[in-house]
Amino acid sequence: MQKLIQWIDARLPIVEAYEKHMSKYYAPKNFNMWYFFGSLAMLVLVNQLVTGIWLTMSYNPSAEGAFASVEYIMRDVEWGWLLRYLHSTGASAFFVVVYLHMFRGIMYGSYQKPRELIWIFGMLIYLVLMAEAFMGYLLPWGQMSYWGAQVIVNLFGAIPVIGEDLSLWIRGDYLISGITLNRFFALHVVALPIVLLGLVVLHLLALHEVGSNNPEGVDIKKVKDENGIPKDGIPFHPYYTVHDLLGVGVFLFIFCAVVFFFPEMGGLFLEKPNFEPANSLKTPEHIAPVWYFTPFYAMLRAVTVDLFGLSAKFWGVVVMGAAIAILFVLPWLDRSPVRSIRYKGMLSKIALLIFVVSFVILGYLGIVPATEGRTKAAQILTTLYFLYFILMPFYTRMEKTKPVPERVSG
Ligand code: HEM
Repeated sequence: MQKLIQWIDARLPIVEAYEKHMSKYYAPKNFNMWYFFGSLAMLVLVNQLVTGIWLTMSYNPSAEGAFASVEYIMRDVEWGWLLRYLHSTGASAFFVVVYLHMFRGIMYGSYQKPRELIWIFGMLIYLVLMAEAFMGYLLPWGQMSYWGAQVIVNLFGAIPVIGEDLSLWIRGDYLISGITLNRFFALHVVALPIVLLGLVVLHLLALHEVGSNNPEGVDIKKVKDENGIPKDGIPFHPYYTVHDLLGVGVFLFIFCAVVFFFPEMGGLFLEKPNFEPANSLKTPEHIAPVWYFTPFYAMLRAVTVDLFGLSAKFWGVVVMGAAIAILFVLPWLDRSPVRSIRYKGMLSKIALLIFVVSFVILGYLGIVPATEGRTKAAQILTTLYFLYFILMPFYTRMEKTKPVPERVSG
């Protein structure tokens, strides 16, 4: 065995890579449960890839056969129901885990210098993940698949001059059709997963270049021992591999409970109209995206006025796009001298609270049908969402911060 490792190592430095990224990667010793979600995101990614490959073996990507092939997977393919529920629940789990992972980054200022690139790669992952989920949702060819895609692709039509041509180009037809299904299938199962994997590798390489942040935002590289090892660092393996296994255990417990007992999650994970085959002549009474898109959907619907000769729909698309785009520049909006929320002042704490509450309520408003009152509420909450970012350069500089200790305390 030793000889074999030596033989391979002379040709491909696997021992060096293992040491660099695992046994000699020194991570801060004060990680808490918020640090589970990166490894859990990787676990869910693997689940999606594996179950996705097996689903593809029995799925038929055509307008005539798609819906029936999903029913066939659910009823006739051995363990097909489990593969499908693991994949559909995995999609929602992915967003739960990624939202919590992003929130951790925001809470502890992990996007701040020198980790801006980790954040940018993370945001690109988030974008690709949204495209992946959107295209995957068309594949069962149910009513919501069809009409959801119709609504979203039509949004591109609101862009002046090129809009109509652009949505025609995306659909490949005048309506969402089998042609659209075919291309979404190709992108969902081949192109986007490759991009996603590549981005995750870059995300981790960028992380291991500068090292992890921690709940206190203390720079552990400042205090090193005589061997150049950070005094507050511990080797990733075995300490954090074991730590992360605890997270995996708890996660799998909850995930399996959902897969086996509540796979539809009351219509949140698998929407009710999607149990009916797509019908281009029958619009469902109420079209809403899956829960992870609803905060942005609520922002889209919150814009109700035409401005400068452009439609409300166009401005809605702009607001929705800006809500995601603004997250990219977060590292440059935060001017605080400290990273973690623990040492920031009261203004940052209140702002973060308002931001989270606004985002969650917007998520709710995007699920339920719009009324006049709800639209008003969505307008106020959308404004609060943007104010969190726009005012950040001011309140992070104005407020009094607490001094950050030299060493981590936990
Ligand atoms: C497929 C999705 C993703 C995977 C597999 C993934 C994986 C990871 C892993 C394994 C870590 C190290 C462990 C940890 O700190 O939790 C990490 C750190 C990080 N990730 Fe992600 N990530 C994903 C998406 C994102 C997204 C969407 C963002 C933000 C936009 C993001 C931002 C960060 C940041 C800022 C860190 C450094 C955290 C720190 O050092 O405190 N990641 N990621």
